[in-house]
Amino acid sequence: MLSINWVALLYLLASILIIFSLKGLSSPASARRANMYGMLGMGIAILVTLQLQSVQNYFWIFICIGIGGLIGGVAARKVPMTHMPQTVAFMHSLVGLAAVLIAVSAMADPIAYGIANSQGVLHTASTIELFLGTFIGAITFTASLVAFAKLHGLVSGSPVTFAGQHVLNLILGLAMLGFGVWFCITPTWLPFLLMLAIALLLGVLLIIPIGGADMPVIVSMLNSYSGWAAAGIGFTLNNHMLIIAGALVGSSGAILSYIMCKAMNRSLLNVLLGGFGGDAKTAVAGGQKQDRPVTSGAPEDAAFMLQNARSVVIVPGYGLAVARAQHALKEMVEVLTKAGVSVRFAIHPVAGRMPGHMNVLLAEADVPYDIVHEMDEINPEFADTDIALVIGANDVTNPAAKTDPTSPIYGMPILDVIKARNILIIKRSLSVGYAGLDNDLFYMDKTMMIFSDAKKACEKIVQSLD
Ligand code: TAP
Repeated sequence: MLSINWVALLYLLASILIIFSLKGLSSPASARRANMYGMLGMGIAILVTLQLQSVQNYFWIFICIGIGGLIGGVAARKVPMTHMPQTVAFMHSLVGLAAVLIAVSAMADPIAYGIANSQGVLHTASTIELFLGTFIGAITFTASLVAFAKLHGLVSGSPVTFAGQHVLNLILGLAMLGFGVWFCITPTWLPFLLMLAIALLLGVLLIIPIGGADMPVIVSMLNSYSGWAAAGIGFTLNNHMLIIAGALVGSSGAILSYIMCKAMNRSLLNVLLGGFGGDAKTAVAGGQKQDRPVTSGAPEDAAFMLQNARSVVIVPGYGLAVARAQHALKEMVEVLTKAGVSVRFAIHPVAGRMPGHMNVLLAEADVPYDIVHEMDEINPEFADTDIALVIGANDVTNPAAKTDPTSPIYGMPILDVIKARNILIIKRSLSVGYAGLDNDLFYMDKTMMIFSDAKKACEKIVQSLD
């Protein structure tokens, strides 16, 4: 068994590795290495924890690690990138559930957890820690399950609202805090269970009014909640590593939520209170065909235009991910670059279905990072671009975000595709995107629609260029 100093030192090393991991995940160029740091940090943390004196029964621990590892390994291989948001939501629910279960077992045997005196009466500090870990964990658990069900289409993604919803949430929130205070003064099962039950209910009530288009922010926010729940339980277990890792997840999730709120023009306070989204429209299944005339062309026409352009900015979106067109697209970029065309990518912060979705896809196809630009960097360049090539993207290019105050996405920053000299849009139809909105870009004189699956279109363009 390691001495207490070694345990502290190794936990510190694991924490530093996790901090490096979070830092590295902010850029696609360092993301792979960052994951290795994270895995190493977590590996050290687990091994050090396993050898602690308090760990006495290895049989069940290894059975659980085996089952969990197997499920995680299979899921990592099987779950498609487009299902990542619901997978992440589901995983957050497990963190919340773990926090609740640990709290319940600590309540059942507080002496074993070292949080009570010899008569079994909980220390005051421990009651506060249990209270925080339990209610945040319980809200995270049920809220994440509802988010999972909405994102996976098990229930409707439409907002569920009713009169007095906010007042009810407020009353329940106050009641939960009241029972929490009662529990801290008199640490018995009754206030604990009442607080737990209300927190589980609140988790559901906070998420049901959120519309599909706002779900990404919620998933990121739940990520943050799950971190704080883990940190709270870290205090109960007196485990510094869990406190540090939980706080890191909690704070980085909160920062990510803030960035996403800014990218979608939402207020973080509203997200925290679960009160927005009522006005956000979710995708209309199948979308509507519009009556306005459009100019359409074949992939061969697109190839002709592209090879005669000086500069091309490619805007990838969710459709690129669905079609798995990134490899064909990479080939197209190579051919065009060889022909002397300047090709760059424009990435919107919420393109696709999760933060960084497009960066991951492009990295998977080995697209060089130096031609991949964030929205703020590339937006001023569109006016001097011959062709904006939009592939399976829709909402993130929709000019209504700037021009139509009645639009649900009004105020959301968009890629200024509209300013390019010519626009090519590859998608299968005139169907709407995630936010369920028509896009004026499709009907402009300088736009040519290529109605096709993204992968097939990219392959045909490469053939024509060859
Ligand atoms: P969307 O607006 O959802 O548009 C994607 C388009 O791809 C659709 O209009 C669809 O049109 C087309 N498409 C689908 N399958 C295709 C295929 N096989 N080949 C070619 N095109 C295909 O996507 P976006 O522009 O990337 O915007 C993202 C949206 O998702 C935003 O509203 C954002 O708020 C939301 N969202 C983002 C996130 C994050 S965090 N990134 C998470 C959840 C939701 P057709 O059907 O006509 O082909």
